[in-house]
Amino acid sequence: MTDSTHDRLLIIDFGSQVTQLIARRLRELNVYCEIHPFNKVDDAFLKSFAPKAVIFSGGPASVFADGAPMPPKGVFDLGVPILGICYGQQVMMHCLGGKVERGHGTAEFGRAYVTPTAATHPVLSGWFDTDDGHGGREQVWMSHGDHVSEIAPGFQVLGTSPNAPFAITANPKRHFYAVQFHPEVHHTPKGAKLYENFVRLAGFKGDWTMGAYREEAIRKIREQVGDEKVICGLSGGVDSSVAAVLIHEAIGDQLTCVFVDHGLLRLGEAEQVVTMFRDHYNMPLIHADESDLFLGALEGVSDPEVKRKTIGRLFIEVFEKHAKSIGGAKFLAQGTLYPDVIESVSFSGGPSVTIKSHHNVGGLPEKMGMKLVEPLRELFKDEVRALGRELGLPAQFIGRHPFPGPGLAIRCPGEITREKLDILRRADAVYIDQIRKHGLYDDIWQAFAAILPMKTVGVMGDGRTYDYALALRAVTSVDGMTADYYPFTHDFLGETATRIINEVQGVNRVFYDCTSKPPGTIELE
Ligand code: XMP
Repeated sequence: MTDSTHDRLLIIDFGSQVTQLIARRLRELNVYCEIHPFNKVDDAFLKSFAPKAVIFSGGPASVFADGAPMPPKGVFDLGVPILGICYGQQVMMHCLGGKVERGHGTAEFGRAYVTPTAATHPVLSGWFDTDDGHGGREQVWMSHGDHVSEIAPGFQVLGTSPNAPFAITANPKRHFYAVQFHPEVHHTPKGAKLYENFVRLAGFKGDWTMGAYREEAIRKIREQVGDEKVICGLSGGVDSSVAAVLIHEAIGDQLTCVFVDHGLLRLGEAEQVVTMFRDHYNMPLIHADESDLFLGALEGVSDPEVKRKTIGRLFIEVFEKHAKSIGGAKFLAQGTLYPDVIESVSFSGGPSVTIKSHHNVGGLPEKMGMKLVEPLRELFKDEVRALGRELGLPAQFIGRHPFPGPGLAIRCPGEITREKLDILRRADAVYIDQIRKHGLYDDIWQAFAAILPMKTVGVMGDGRTYDYALALRAVTSVDGMTADYYPFTHDFLGETATRIINEVQGVNRVFYDCTSKPPGTIELE
């Protein structure tokens, strides 16, 4: 709990796959909210959080199950509006004297249509317009096995669907609202309007803007850090860059950034980062050129996990060395985002298989006895971009595709050599240039070239060539967890392959990777 000057909305998470989307819809309405799992919310927590309204998320459980997730009883006595969604509705009815029933043919998954009853309520303002072509019914997205069979005393029905007689219900006196469908998903087109009505009825001012966030974050950083020194590992990615600029604005030269150049960066990347932060922002910046160290240690290594672990280990060693050189930094700044925070407190996630050991600076703070400064902990990725714009970071920089910590090492399957890295850098630059020239950069979540561990025979200018093959990758994604390959036109692919082979010596064949994730991953290693 961090923000105290704004109206706060509490989302109690019962484990729905789409709880984060509720937060998104609310943030779009400039409402400050936090998601907390049901088993971390007790009456003492409610008191200290002091929400102005509460939302119960959906969830996979059944209220009939042993130990079914429940909200703390005190939540109904707070005197604040509550909105229950799907499982949240069932739980609300169950706790307040209504009835929930098992399936029996009334399960609904997917698109459904809700029609209004005779009762009306401002929570449905903008719904059921007869002149919008839907004949006064609204499309909603259902996903429930159990259903409410009897509403709790004081509730009335505002909307019904064929399999959910209590699709939309309200207790107007207590400002409790409960819906069987998911208003947060895209497939409930008027869902955002429902949230808007709910927060308006709850009295939210909608004052949570990026400008306000920036001011508050600066105040908090000053308060936390005092006159101590802070060190920040700058990767050139959006998150660490925005964190660094924000912290620099708060505490000036008490912040030192360390940019570890492992020799696995893209063409011109180190210069761009150093120029921007050291020259443009005038920040104390250590440019640690350690390419010999990293490339030396990676010589002869072809196993992807060994590569990742080697880079992770050296990164920490180098960072530690330079952190010591500035003498006594008590704080380590990190660009941790909200989704990372949520994942780490997830109550439903079981042990998952490690597909790739992602490289980061985890473990450093404890090892070096440092405290963390994480000014982006409450933000989603696109909110970080909005904050970056607010802070005046150049648009081109803010919109950059993600780039992984191990850099080109994982785009060079098999053994890494300086020659291959050099070819890859130049080919990648041509590919990205093509994407920008065709105006496609912002439609793509991530695009890059990878150099394959094989040579193929070709013919150029009547002569035989025996050169490297290159794979091009471009994906669309929301969060990198799943991804679709980007459907370039044949013309684009043909033109790009020709340009790369003509302009980059050492490549004589280009493939396009049409694998989605799953079953593939975004990076090749
Ligand atoms: P994968 O290949 O796992 O990638 O589908 C998903 C997203 O994560 C990035 N990625 C990394 N980022 N350190 C990072 O900071 C890593 O070790 C790492 N490995 C993959 C990848 O670029 C994509 O955006």
